[in-house]
Amino acid sequence: MSKKLSLGLFGFGVVGQGLYDIIRTKDLNLEIRKIAIKHPEKKRSLPAELFTTDVDAVLNDPEINTIVELINDAEAAWYIVSSALKKGINVVSANKKLIASHLEELVDLQEEYGASLLYEGSVCGSIPIIRNLEEYYDNELLYSVRGIFNGSSNYILSKVFNEDLDYDVALKQAQDLGFAESDPILDVGGYDAKYKLVIASAHAYGVLANPDEVLNIGIQNLTSQDVQFAKEKNYKIKLVPTALEFAEKQIVLYVLPKLVKSDDFLYNVENEYNGVIVQAAFADQQFFFGKGAGGHPTGSAVLSDIAALRYDYKYEYKKYHQKSGFRLTGDYSLNVYLRYTDESLIQKLHFESITERYYSPDFSYIIGKVSLNSLIEHKELLSIKGSFVAEIGNVSPVTHESGYSEEHLKIEASGVATHIATI
Ligand code: HSE
Repeated sequence: MSKKLSLGLFGFGVVGQGLYDIIRTKDLNLEIRKIAIKHPEKKRSLPAELFTTDVDAVLNDPEINTIVELINDAEAAWYIVSSALKKGINVVSANKKLIASHLEELVDLQEEYGASLLYEGSVCGSIPIIRNLEEYYDNELLYSVRGIFNGSSNYILSKVFNEDLDYDVALKQAQDLGFAESDPILDVGGYDAKYKLVIASAHAYGVLANPDEVLNIGIQNLTSQDVQFAKEKNYKIKLVPTALEFAEKQIVLYVLPKLVKSDDFLYNVENEYNGVIVQAAFADQQFFFGKGAGGHPTGSAVLSDIAALRYDYKYEYKKYHQKSGFRLTGDYSLNVYLRYTDESLIQKLHFESITERYYSPDFSYIIGKVSLNSLIEHKELLSIKGSFVAEIGNVSPVTHESGYSEEHLKIEASGVATHIATI
């Protein structure tokens, strides 16, 4: 018989409620003993005596042997999670900002106090990517891990692309459906995806990156011009976090919108679904697909972690402890599409090469290679209204006898750009 788990739950929002819905349908030999909440005035679906606003009363309850942290305040979550680990209590958390920002300390605390912290629900909702990176790929060389890690921004992009919905209307729907963070800039600005990328990279490469040093540019400046540009060339725009080993032991991490073609698995990932593509040396390419946001999908990942604690499952952070020598760098070239209004941005970014430029009074763009370091340096400028940057697949011109590149011919045929220069 597995040990009985007595849970102290922090937070009863979308995920907490989703977890409760799942637990109550099953006979799992576990009970929710107390739920700590911030807003006692809110109407709840459970008996009032289950709820408390006293965080320490839950942490110090001797009957509670498992803490489940599902709040959205990363600082308060740090207090809860670190206090529980210091007491030797196992913890499940879905708080991506907390985990990404304190990963090294959290690994140390687990080792020092012998407790386990599991966080499958923090990355890509229902997709079991952390446990796969941790267990299945522990002896694999991974070339890259990339995908769609944020359900809200993907929902918005799907609605804007497929249904011509207004960006703000789509965002409101994502909020109403319970997918979005309390501050939606965390979703559309690529912060949420970045925290998830940092967590995934710790398990994929053993690199504990500081999120403040990882580039995140989001979709908040997307306009109908970008959508038209993408559609005319048979692309979709997705918000894609990427971890990539591009040279011996050198990895890059970044979150950028990406123009993807139909041969990319991510092309058909729509709405709140997420997708993760793992490119491994021996297993080759594998694709994980599932709901990335919402109470029940995320609740199912949280429950899987809770169940794993019955047999004292722990992450071993093998790649981190092996000191595999991966080095994070920004010295890497990306091919990007940049729509801009401020011409000086082009100078500042120091494009290494340019394949296309298009000018008109109300729409100008450039496609070319630029270094990740340069994008990091000018992140603020790239984030202000008037510019939109997206990674674009390899469009290195394939030269034909005519002297035109395939890409050039496609662009001319689309009729979008009449003042185009292929350089
Ligand atoms: N706001 C997040 C998303 C929730 O939209 O993906 C799940 O982490």
